Amino acid sequence: MKPVSLIQFLIEERRAGHINAELSLLIEVVARACKRIAVAVNKGALGGVLGNAGTDNVQGEAQKKLDVISNEILLEANAWGGHLAACASEEMEDPQPIPDMYPKGQHLLLFDPLDGSSNIDVNVSVGTIFSVLRCPDDVAEAKAEHFLQPGITQLAAGYVVYGPSTVLVLTFGHGTHEFTLDREVGSFVLSRRDIRIPEATAEFAINMSNQRHWEAPMQRYIGELLAGKDGPRGKDFNMRWVASMVADVHRILTRGGVFYYPLDAKITAKGGTGKLRLMYEANPMAFIVEQAGGAATTGREPIMGVQPTSLHQRVPVFLGSKQEIEQATHYHLQAD
Ligand code: AHG
Repeated sequence: MKPVSLIQFLIEERRAGHINAELSLLIEVVARACKRIAVAVNKGALGGVLGNAGTDNVQGEAQKKLDVISNEILLEANAWGGHLAACASEEMEDPQPIPDMYPKGQHLLLFDPLDGSSNIDVNVSVGTIFSVLRCPDDVAEAKAEHFLQPGITQLAAGYVVYGPSTVLVLTFGHGTHEFTLDREVGSFVLSRRDIRIPEATAEFAINMSNQRHWEAPMQRYIGELLAGKDGPRGKDFNMRWVASMVADVHRILTRGGVFYYPLDAKITAKGGTGKLRLMYEANPMAFIVEQAGGAATTGREPIMGVQPTSLHQRVPVFLGSKQEIEQATHYHLQAD
């Protein structure tokens, strides 16, 4: 079969009425920016891009040089195309308006420019995650409040994983599709159409070092998985944890599985509501996973039903193969 490039795929999606020309351009621009990030990530020590930037982001976390570079690449690429009303980044406190000299569009773009950045220096996969919303019609200048829309209103979501190969995963609400970067040609090529996550799995991903801090229903659920075939679940489970959400989610989209970052006492003791960010990580990943037949909850409600109250809000994240997510969510609701 003839390879289908991302551009061809976007044209097909326009013809099918799934996206308009502006959203198609937006995705092209984001994909182009991610190719540049892939080049920077790939150079590693030779590009002088490893290590800390010496600054903290809005969450008070030390920024890596590549966090800063990736953020700049995405901001710069998206400023002038006329497809955005504004963009918001996990690395910046407030949304970035479009400079006055450029035309404005109808879309709002949110991104985590380099997720899992603690993995950069050890040469483990990292990624970019993004989400697209529509800017309300009557808004002259998009502000933070205009981004505060629940995940179900997302028009598009995607991530790029910078691993052994650079892979883009994308949804417009009509299935989840995967594109692999052909480095020689310089374009993303469709490698899997309509990815499906199996409903059942025997593989889970969680940071087990937090076990003693979890809530009782999480202790119960994971305890049952660990008990294996002699326990109540009657089968053995395998465990994986990359500590890069993009890599863990990509494995789930490839061979099934579940990913959990639950609430724990370490988080609540500091007044926190979760580890992962609703707008930059949880919502886009929930959209991608649900479009592939999986499920995504906070342990208590669907992630995409949460009404955001702030741009950098955090939530617990449960996502992946449906049967497991339903079971873990059921235990939490039962205990409330
Ligand atoms: P960061 O971008 O700050 O490295 O955070 C990564 C996120 C996510 O990608 C990953 O699943 C999780 O944090 C890992 O958390 P732990 O370090 O607590 O395992």
